[in-house]
Amino acid sequence: MTKEFRPIAMINITNRCTLRCKHCFVYRDGTPNTPTKQNEMPADQMIKEIKKYRKKFGILHMVWMGGEPLLRKDVLELGIKLFPQNIITTNGTLPLFNLGPKIKWVISLDGTEEINDEVRGKGSFKKVINNLNNLPDDFTGDLQCGCCVTKKNEHVLEEFIEVLQKETPLRGINFTFYVPKKNDTTGLGWKDLEERDKVIKNLMALKKKYPNYILNNSMVLELMLSHNALEITNNCPVLNYMLPLYLGEEGFERPFCCYGNDVNCDLCGAWVVFHLALIIKLNPGFPNITSGPYKKVTPTSINK
Ligand SMILES: C[S@@+](CC[C@H](N)C(=O)[O-])C[C@H]1O[C@@H](n2cnc3c(N)ncnc32)[C@H](O)[C@@H]1O
Ligand code: SF4
Ligand code: SF4
Repeated sequence: MTKEFRPIAMINITNRCTLRCKHCFVYRDGTPNTPTKQNEMPADQMIKEIKKYRKKFGILHMVWMGGEPLLRKDVLELGIKLFPQNIITTNGTLPLFNLGPKIKWVISLDGTEEINDEVRGKGSFKKVINNLNNLPDDFTGDLQCGCCVTKKNEHVLEEFIEVLQKETPLRGINFTFYVPKKNDTTGLGWKDLEERDKVIKNLMALKKKYPNYILNNSMVLELMLSHNALEITNNCPVLNYMLPLYLGEEGFERPFCCYGNDVNCDLCGAWVVFHLALIIKLNPGFPNITSGPYKKVTPTSINK
Protein backbone atom coordinates (compact mmCIF):
# COMPACT_ATOMS: atom_id res chain seq x y z
CA MET A 1 0.00 0.00 0.00
CA THR A 2 1.29 3.51 -0.77
CA LYS A 3 2.02 5.82 2.17
CA GLU A 4 -1.13 7.86 1.64
CA PHE A 5 -3.63 5.41 0.13
CA ARG A 6 -6.63 7.05 -1.55
CA PRO A 7 -8.77 4.35 -3.19
CA ILE A 8 -11.23 6.95 -4.52
CA ALA A 9 -10.43 10.21 -6.29
CA MET A 10 -12.52 12.96 -7.81
CA ILE A 11 -11.10 15.15 -10.48
CA ASN A 12 -12.19 18.39 -12.09
CA ILE A 13 -10.94 18.06 -15.66
CA THR A 14 -12.13 21.51 -16.67
CA ASN A 15 -13.11 24.73 -14.93
CA ARG A 16 -15.45 25.60 -17.78
CA CYS A 17 -19.15 24.88 -17.44
CA THR A 18 -22.31 25.24 -19.52
CA LEU A 19 -24.29 26.27 -16.42
CA ARG A 20 -23.87 28.43 -13.29
CA CYS A 21 -25.98 26.72 -10.64
CA LYS A 22 -26.85 28.63 -7.48
CA HIS A 23 -25.72 25.84 -5.14
CA CYS A 24 -22.41 24.98 -6.80
CA PHE A 25 -19.42 24.48 -4.49
CA VAL A 26 -16.92 24.66 -7.38
CA TYR A 27 -17.53 28.32 -8.16
CA ARG A 28 -17.19 29.57 -4.59
CA ASP A 29 -14.54 32.17 -3.78
CA GLY A 30 -11.35 30.67 -2.43
CA THR A 31 -11.66 27.42 -4.40
CA PRO A 32 -9.61 26.79 -7.56
CA ASN A 33 -12.09 27.32 -10.40
CA THR A 34 -10.65 29.64 -13.08
CA PRO A 35 -9.98 28.27 -16.57
CA THR A 36 -6.49 29.30 -17.70
CA LYS A 37 -4.24 28.28 -20.59
CA GLN A 38 -2.02 26.34 -18.20
CA ASN A 39 -4.73 24.42 -16.39
CA GLU A 40 -6.97 23.68 -19.41
CA MET A 41 -4.11 21.51 -20.62
CA PRO A 42 -4.00 19.22 -23.67
CA ALA A 43 -5.43 15.74 -23.09
CA ASP A 44 -2.12 13.87 -23.31
CA GLN A 45 -0.53 16.18 -20.72
CA MET A 46 -3.53 15.83 -18.40
CA ILE A 47 -3.42 12.04 -18.70
CA LYS A 48 0.28 12.08 -17.79
CA GLU A 49 -0.51 14.11 -14.66
CA ILE A 50 -3.37 11.78 -13.71
CA LYS A 51 -1.11 8.74 -14.08
CA LYS A 52 1.30 10.30 -11.56
CA TYR A 53 -1.52 10.66 -9.01
CA ARG A 54 -2.74 7.12 -9.72
CA LYS A 55 0.72 5.76 -8.92
CA LYS A 56 1.25 7.93 -5.84
CA PHE A 57 -2.14 7.27 -4.20
CA GLY A 58 -3.20 3.86 -5.56
CA ILE A 59 -6.46 5.25 -6.95
CA LEU A 60 -8.98 2.57 -7.98
CA HIS A 61 -12.24 4.49 -8.40
CA MET A 62 -12.28 7.73 -10.34
CA VAL A 63 -15.12 10.26 -10.25
CA TRP A 64 -14.86 12.57 -13.27
CA MET A 65 -16.21 16.07 -12.68
CA GLY A 66 -15.69 19.75 -13.45
CA GLY A 67 -17.02 22.28 -14.35
CA GLU A 68 -18.69 20.23 -17.00
CA PRO A 69 -16.61 17.11 -17.75
CA LEU A 70 -18.30 16.46 -21.12
CA LEU A 71 -16.52 19.57 -22.41
CA ARG A 72 -13.37 17.39 -22.25
CA LYS A 73 -14.50 14.33 -24.21
CA ASP A 74 -10.85 13.94 -25.28
CA VAL A 75 -9.72 13.50 -21.66
CA LEU A 76 -12.61 11.19 -20.72
CA GLU A 77 -11.97 8.85 -23.65
CA LEU A 78 -8.39 8.29 -22.52
CA GLY A 79 -8.90 8.71 -18.79
CA ILE A 80 -11.48 5.97 -18.21
CA LYS A 81 -8.93 3.42 -19.43
CA LEU A 82 -6.71 4.20 -16.43
CA PHE A 83 -9.10 2.98 -13.69
CA PRO A 84 -11.12 -0.20 -13.05
CA GLN A 85 -14.16 1.87 -12.00
CA ASN A 86 -15.27 5.20 -13.41
CA ILE A 87 -18.16 7.50 -12.57
CA ILE A 88 -18.89 10.50 -14.76
CA THR A 89 -20.97 13.21 -13.08
CA THR A 90 -22.44 15.52 -15.69
CA ASN A 91 -25.05 18.25 -15.95
CA GLY A 92 -26.40 16.46 -19.04
CA THR A 93 -26.72 19.60 -21.16
CA LEU A 94 -24.34 18.21 -23.80
CA PRO A 95 -25.08 15.03 -25.75
CA LEU A 96 -23.85 11.84 -24.05
CA PHE A 97 -21.57 9.45 -25.94
CA ASN A 98 -20.74 5.80 -25.56
CA LEU A 99 -17.80 4.93 -23.32
CA GLY A 100 -18.79 1.31 -22.74
CA PRO A 101 -21.07 -0.65 -20.40
CA LYS A 102 -18.89 -0.35 -17.28
CA ILE A 103 -19.22 3.43 -17.02
CA LYS A 104 -21.57 4.85 -14.41
CA TRP A 105 -23.14 8.12 -15.52
CA VAL A 106 -24.63 10.40 -12.88
CA ILE A 107 -26.89 13.01 -14.48
CA SER A 108 -27.48 16.00 -12.23
CA LEU A 109 -31.01 17.35 -12.02
CA ASP A 110 -32.38 19.14 -8.99
CA GLY A 111 -36.14 18.77 -9.16
CA THR A 112 -39.14 19.21 -11.42
CA GLU A 113 -38.69 21.58 -14.35
CA GLU A 114 -39.50 24.89 -12.68
CA ILE A 115 -37.59 24.11 -9.49
CA ASN A 116 -34.60 22.65 -11.34
CA ASP A 117 -34.37 25.64 -13.64
CA GLU A 118 -34.51 28.04 -10.70
CA VAL A 119 -31.26 26.53 -9.41
CA ARG A 120 -29.61 25.23 -12.62
CA GLY A 121 -30.74 27.88 -15.08
CA LYS A 122 -33.68 28.46 -17.40
CA GLY A 123 -34.17 25.85 -20.09
CA SER A 124 -31.67 23.41 -18.57
CA PHE A 125 -34.26 20.78 -17.55
CA LYS A 126 -35.68 20.41 -21.09
CA LYS A 127 -32.20 20.25 -22.59
CA VAL A 128 -31.20 17.37 -20.29
CA ILE A 129 -34.42 15.40 -20.77
CA ASN A 130 -34.03 15.81 -24.54
CA ASN A 131 -30.44 14.49 -24.44
CA LEU A 132 -31.48 11.53 -22.30
CA ASN A 133 -34.19 10.61 -24.78
CA ASN A 134 -31.87 10.91 -27.76
CA LEU A 135 -28.91 8.81 -26.65
CA PRO A 136 -26.67 7.56 -29.47
CA ASP A 137 -27.78 4.16 -30.83
CA ASP A 138 -24.60 2.52 -29.57
CA PHE A 139 -24.90 3.96 -26.03
CA THR A 140 -24.22 1.53 -23.18
CA GLY A 141 -23.57 2.52 -19.58
CA ASP A 142 -25.41 2.81 -16.32
CA LEU A 143 -27.55 5.94 -16.06
CA GLN A 144 -28.75 7.40 -12.79
CA CYS A 145 -29.86 10.79 -11.55
CA GLY A 146 -27.94 12.73 -8.90
CA CYS A 147 -30.11 15.26 -7.08
CA CYS A 148 -28.89 17.79 -4.54
CA VAL A 149 -31.64 18.32 -1.96
CA THR A 150 -32.02 21.90 -0.76
CA LYS A 151 -34.74 24.01 0.82
CA LYS A 152 -35.83 24.87 -2.74
CA ASN A 153 -36.71 21.34 -3.82
CA GLU A 154 -37.37 19.48 -0.55
CA HIS A 155 -41.14 19.57 -1.15
CA VAL A 156 -41.13 18.14 -4.71
CA LEU A 157 -39.05 14.99 -4.28
CA GLU A 158 -41.88 12.51 -4.92
CA GLU A 159 -43.25 14.45 -7.87
CA PHE A 160 -39.72 14.57 -9.29
CA ILE A 161 -39.27 10.79 -8.96
CA GLU A 162 -42.54 10.26 -10.85
CA VAL A 163 -41.41 12.58 -13.67
CA LEU A 164 -38.03 10.85 -14.00
CA GLN A 165 -39.63 7.42 -14.08
CA LYS A 166 -42.07 8.46 -16.80
CA GLU A 167 -39.88 10.68 -18.95
CA THR A 168 -36.33 9.36 -18.82
CA PRO A 169 -34.29 6.15 -19.17
CA LEU A 170 -32.59 6.84 -15.78
CA ARG A 171 -32.69 3.66 -13.71
CA GLY A 172 -32.84 5.42 -10.37
CA ILE A 173 -32.00 8.47 -8.33
CA ASN A 174 -29.43 9.14 -5.65
CA PHE A 175 -30.08 12.08 -3.34
CA THR A 176 -27.33 14.08 -1.71
CA PHE A 177 -27.95 16.99 0.64
CA TYR A 178 -26.63 20.51 0.24
CA VAL A 179 -23.08 21.20 1.49
CA PRO A 180 -23.11 24.83 2.65
CA LYS A 181 -20.17 27.17 2.78
CA LYS A 182 -19.16 28.91 5.99
CA ASN A 183 -21.57 31.77 6.70
CA ASP A 184 -23.84 30.56 3.90
CA THR A 185 -26.42 33.14 2.86
CA THR A 186 -27.86 31.36 -0.18
CA GLY A 187 -31.01 30.27 1.66
CA LEU A 188 -30.53 26.79 0.16
CA GLY A 189 -29.53 25.05 3.38
CA TRP A 190 -31.28 24.35 6.70
CA LYS A 191 -30.52 26.36 9.83
CA ASP A 192 -29.42 23.24 11.72
CA LEU A 193 -29.29 19.45 11.50
CA GLU A 194 -32.55 19.09 13.40
CA GLU A 195 -34.35 21.15 10.76
CA ARG A 196 -32.81 18.93 8.05
CA ASP A 197 -34.02 15.77 9.84
CA LYS A 198 -37.59 16.22 8.66
CA VAL A 199 -36.44 16.10 5.02
CA ILE A 200 -34.31 13.01 5.65
CA LYS A 201 -37.26 11.31 7.38
CA ASN A 202 -39.47 12.14 4.39
CA LEU A 203 -36.87 10.56 2.12
CA MET A 204 -36.78 7.47 4.36
CA ALA A 205 -40.55 7.15 3.92
CA LEU A 206 -40.21 7.61 0.14
CA LYS A 207 -37.54 4.91 0.12
CA LYS A 208 -40.18 2.48 1.41
CA LYS A 209 -42.50 3.49 -1.46
CA TYR A 210 -39.79 3.48 -4.19
CA PRO A 211 -37.30 0.95 -2.77
CA ASN A 212 -35.59 0.24 -6.09
CA TYR A 213 -35.77 3.64 -7.75
CA ILE A 214 -34.32 5.53 -4.78
CA LEU A 215 -30.74 4.32 -4.71
CA ASN A 216 -29.79 5.72 -1.30
CA ASN A 217 -29.34 3.02 1.30
CA SER A 218 -31.72 3.29 4.28
CA MET A 219 -28.90 2.74 6.77
CA VAL A 220 -26.95 5.57 5.18
CA LEU A 221 -29.98 7.88 5.54
CA GLU A 222 -30.16 6.89 9.21
CA LEU A 223 -26.52 7.96 9.65
CA MET A 224 -27.39 11.40 8.27
CA LEU A 225 -29.86 12.14 11.07
CA SER A 226 -28.79 14.77 13.59
CA HIS A 227 -28.08 12.28 16.40
CA ASN A 228 -25.49 10.49 14.20
CA ALA A 229 -24.19 13.07 11.72
CA LEU A 230 -21.64 15.03 13.77
CA GLU A 231 -19.77 11.96 14.96
CA ILE A 232 -19.21 11.12 11.28
CA THR A 233 -18.42 14.57 9.90
CA ASN A 234 -16.04 15.24 12.82
CA ASN A 235 -13.89 12.38 11.51
CA CYS A 236 -14.81 12.73 7.87
CA PRO A 237 -14.12 9.60 5.79
CA VAL A 238 -13.94 11.74 2.64
CA LEU A 239 -10.95 13.56 4.14
CA ASN A 240 -9.41 10.25 5.11
CA TYR A 241 -9.99 8.19 1.97
CA MET A 242 -10.79 10.41 -1.03
CA LEU A 243 -8.40 12.49 -3.08
CA PRO A 244 -9.85 15.71 -4.53
CA LEU A 245 -8.05 17.17 -7.54
CA TYR A 246 -9.06 20.65 -8.67
CA LEU A 247 -7.58 22.71 -11.48
CA GLY A 248 -5.57 25.61 -10.06
CA GLU A 249 -3.77 28.29 -12.09
CA GLU A 250 -0.93 25.94 -13.08
CA GLY A 251 -2.50 22.51 -12.97
CA PHE A 252 -3.99 20.09 -10.42
CA GLU A 253 -4.20 21.11 -6.75
CA ARG A 254 -5.61 19.45 -3.63
CA PRO A 255 -8.25 21.63 -1.98
CA PHE A 256 -9.39 21.06 1.62
CA CYS A 257 -11.91 18.41 0.57
CA CYS A 258 -13.94 17.21 -2.43
CA TYR A 259 -16.31 20.12 -1.82
CA GLY A 260 -13.58 22.73 -2.13
CA ASN A 261 -12.01 25.11 0.35
CA ASP A 262 -15.06 26.89 1.76
CA VAL A 263 -17.29 24.37 3.51
CA ASN A 264 -19.24 24.06 6.74
CA CYS A 265 -18.55 20.49 7.87
CA ASP A 266 -21.08 20.67 10.72
CA LEU A 267 -23.93 20.98 8.22
CA CYS A 268 -22.42 18.83 5.46
CA GLY A 269 -25.01 16.68 3.70
CA ALA A 270 -22.75 14.99 1.18
CA TRP A 271 -24.13 11.52 0.54
CA VAL A 272 -20.67 10.07 -0.03
CA VAL A 273 -19.54 10.96 3.52
CA PHE A 274 -22.24 8.83 5.12
CA HIS A 275 -22.02 6.13 2.46
CA LEU A 276 -18.32 5.67 3.18
CA ALA A 277 -19.00 5.79 6.92
CA LEU A 278 -21.33 2.80 6.58
CA ILE A 279 -18.87 0.86 4.44
CA ILE A 280 -16.20 1.46 7.10
CA LYS A 281 -18.55 0.48 9.93
CA LEU A 282 -19.41 -2.81 8.21
CA ASN A 283 -15.87 -3.58 7.08
CA PRO A 284 -13.24 -3.60 9.80
CA GLY A 285 -10.63 -4.33 7.07
CA PHE A 286 -11.26 -1.05 5.21
CA PRO A 287 -9.44 0.34 3.25
CA ASN A 288 -7.71 -2.94 2.45
CA ILE A 289 -10.32 -3.59 -0.20
CA THR A 290 -8.58 -6.28 -2.19
CA SER A 291 -9.06 -8.97 0.41
CA GLY A 292 -10.89 -9.78 3.58
CA PRO A 293 -14.33 -8.82 4.77
CA TYR A 294 -14.72 -5.79 2.49
CA LYS A 295 -15.90 -8.17 -0.20
CA LYS A 296 -19.13 -8.66 1.76
CA VAL A 297 -20.35 -5.13 1.08
CA THR A 298 -19.36 -3.20 -2.01
CA PRO A 299 -20.50 0.30 -2.95
CA THR A 300 -22.77 -1.33 -5.54
CA SER A 301 -24.38 -3.92 -3.30
CA ILE A 302 -24.88 -1.31 -0.61
CA ASN A 303 -26.99 0.72 -3.03
CA LYS A 304 -30.00 -1.50 -2.40
C1 LIG B 1 -19.96 20.21 -9.00
S1 LIG B 1 -20.90 19.28 -10.12
C2 LIG B 1 -19.72 18.90 -11.41
C3 LIG B 1 -20.25 18.01 -12.48
C4 LIG B 1 -21.35 18.56 -13.37
N1 LIG B 1 -21.15 19.89 -13.75
C5 LIG B 1 -22.70 18.38 -12.70
O1 LIG B 1 -23.37 19.36 -12.40
O2 LIG B 1 -23.05 17.22 -12.51
C6 LIG B 1 -21.05 17.68 -9.29
C7 LIG B 1 -22.28 17.50 -8.44
O3 LIG B 1 -22.17 18.29 -7.29
C8 LIG B 1 -23.46 18.76 -6.94
N2 LIG B 1 -23.30 19.96 -6.10
C9 LIG B 1 -22.94 21.18 -6.49
N3 LIG B 1 -22.90 22.03 -5.42
C10 LIG B 1 -23.26 21.30 -4.35
C11 LIG B 1 -23.38 21.60 -2.97
N4 LIG B 1 -23.13 22.80 -2.49
N5 LIG B 1 -23.76 20.59 -2.13
C12 LIG B 1 -23.99 19.35 -2.60
N6 LIG B 1 -23.88 19.01 -3.89
C13 LIG B 1 -23.53 19.96 -4.76
C14 LIG B 1 -24.07 19.06 -8.28
O4 LIG B 1 -25.47 19.18 -8.19
C15 LIG B 1 -23.60 17.86 -9.09
O5 LIG B 1 -24.49 16.79 -8.97
S1 SF4 C 1 -23.35 22.29 -13.82
FE1 SF4 C 1 -22.15 21.33 -12.20
S2 SF4 C 1 -20.18 22.42 -12.16
FE2 SF4 C 1 -21.57 23.60 -13.47
S3 SF4 C 1 -22.32 25.16 -12.07
FE3 SF4 C 1 -23.79 23.46 -12.04
S4 SF4 C 1 -23.16 22.10 -10.35
FE4 SF4 C 1 -21.47 23.52 -10.81
S1 SF4 D 1 -17.48 19.39 3.93
FE1 SF4 D 1 -18.26 17.33 4.17
S2 SF4 D 1 -16.96 16.10 2.84
FE2 SF4 D 1 -15.87 18.03 3.17
S3 SF4 D 1 -14.53 17.58 4.94
FE3 SF4 D 1 -16.41 18.54 5.70
S4 SF4 D 1 -17.67 16.76 6.30
FE4 SF4 D 1 -16.10 16.02 4.90
